[in-house]
Amino acid sequence: MDADLRHDDRPFPIPNQPHRFKFHLSPIHFSSILILLLAISFFAFPKTNFYKSQSSKLTNLLKFSNQPPGFNPLCVLWMAPFLSGGGYSSEAWSYILALRHHITNPGFRLVIRHHGDLESVDFWEGLPESVRNLAIELHRTRCRMNETVVICHSEPGAWNPPLFETLPCPPGPYQKFKSVIGRTMFETDRVTREHVNRCNVMDYVWVPSEFHVSTFVESGVDPSKIVKVVQPVDVNFFDPLKYKPLSLESVGTLVLGGKNFEEEVKLEKKRFVFLSIFKWEFRKGWDVLLEAYLKEFSKKDEVGLFLLTNPYHTDSDFGNKILDFVENSDLQMPLSGWAPVYVVDIHIPQTDLPRVYKAADAFVLPSRGEGWGRPLVEAMAMSLPVIATNWSGQTEFLTDENSYPLPVERMSEVKEEPFKGHMWAEPSISKLQVLMREVTVNVDEAKEKGRRARQDMIDRFSPDIVADIVHRQIENIFHEKR
Ligand SMILES: *[C@@H]1O[C@H](CO)[C@@H](O)[C@H](O)[C@H]1NC(C)=O
Ligand SMILES: *[C@@H]1O[C@H](CO)[C@@H](O)[C@H](O)[C@H]1NC(C)=O
Repeated sequence: MDADLRHDDRPFPIPNQPHRFKFHLSPIHFSSILILLLAISFFAFPKTNFYKSQSSKLTNLLKFSNQPPGFNPLCVLWMAPFLSGGGYSSEAWSYILALRHHITNPGFRLVIRHHGDLESVDFWEGLPESVRNLAIELHRTRCRMNETVVICHSEPGAWNPPLFETLPCPPGPYQKFKSVIGRTMFETDRVTREHVNRCNVMDYVWVPSEFHVSTFVESGVDPSKIVKVVQPVDVNFFDPLKYKPLSLESVGTLVLGGKNFEEEVKLEKKRFVFLSIFKWEFRKGWDVLLEAYLKEFSKKDEVGLFLLTNPYHTDSDFGNKILDFVENSDLQMPLSGWAPVYVVDIHIPQTDLPRVYKAADAFVLPSRGEGWGRPLVEAMAMSLPVIATNWSGQTEFLTDENSYPLPVERMSEVKEEPFKGHMWAEPSISKLQVLMREVTVNVDEAKEKGRRARQDMIDRFSPDIVADIVHRQIENIFHEKR
């Protein structure tokens, strides 16, 4: 899968893009993915009559066939971009895996459907086999609508009726289900009118952080519907003791800072490695990161910056984008030369991702706004010291004890449609320089923060703890009357 794609929290896909699917599958994967995608193509109609045809087909689909006697009717239909590899996708998987493990009640049935963003074959193929098998199993489960709590885990534009072509969520009239929950988030200081209205049609809206509770309420979402439900991070998978580092130099391309051949031969020299993972978009603050890093460090500092990235509505010529950025800035090349910048834009399967974190000494992401920041919690679970903007979703878990919250200089206006006029944060470049220097110098303190970070992830966001939160929410709903 595209490691960075799955990391992006940006909760909106490209509107009006038809549901395309590129077939470059190997025969081995073909059959298993096909089962999942059959349903998707089955429901991918042209936009006209979309809703009407959807609901009748889905009514049939959701009819429960062979219910054993005495079965406790408790069904959760989780609809999310499971196959997209985006931020919602990895978040949804983390819930499913957590719930699956946590809930032993045999009457509790879990069903999943792909909904929202487009599918990515790379992502599917990069999933562990056990997860792929689970996906197929959970896709087959059938439930009655009136006994089903639906979780629409996506950007509100995908909710019924969807603004672009996707399987609608809920897949039928809202009132026919036991309850319908929207799970969403946003990375600016507000929610659009359209999204507010869509939230208010839901029975509940689950958001991951206090930041969202306040931005959603301030934007007009009914406060009685909003519930904070944090995200799990798989602390067993992201466990630094289980992995050997991946050689980042071997998968990365050096785009700035000359290679010194003799040094390469000696090779033994330990460099301090900064890692960042993001989709290539302005929001992620790659400009802030490059400027701070290139101002603060030079070749003689023996540091390296590795950017694991992939395109977001752009081409993937990241090397030239970085060179252009440096040329058009007022950055001066230090006497000893630029500190090296590497781009890793090859596909890193999910199973290798912990080894990428393991190869780093610190993780840094000075973004302007995040829904949650999955790479941040993954890095923290991997005991890395993390430097990240002290604003938006990640303020739910960044503390002075477990990380380096990066101060915000000012708020700035979002310049691009469709969220022009919203505000987000401009992290301080000079403070980022200070913090990046500090982690390289004060190594013991950085390691201590990393240890604390992992402990906090275990205590607050381990799958069992979050599954318990979700389970209790759902149980409460089943005991309510509609
Ligand atoms: C759901 O509907 C079926 C029949 O349509 C009914 O037998 C069942 O009791 C209903 N379940 C609930 C929880 O109301
Ligand atoms: C981060 O933001 C919070 C809330 O605005 C503030 O209380 C805290 O002091 C900030 N931390 C740092 C390191 O700037």
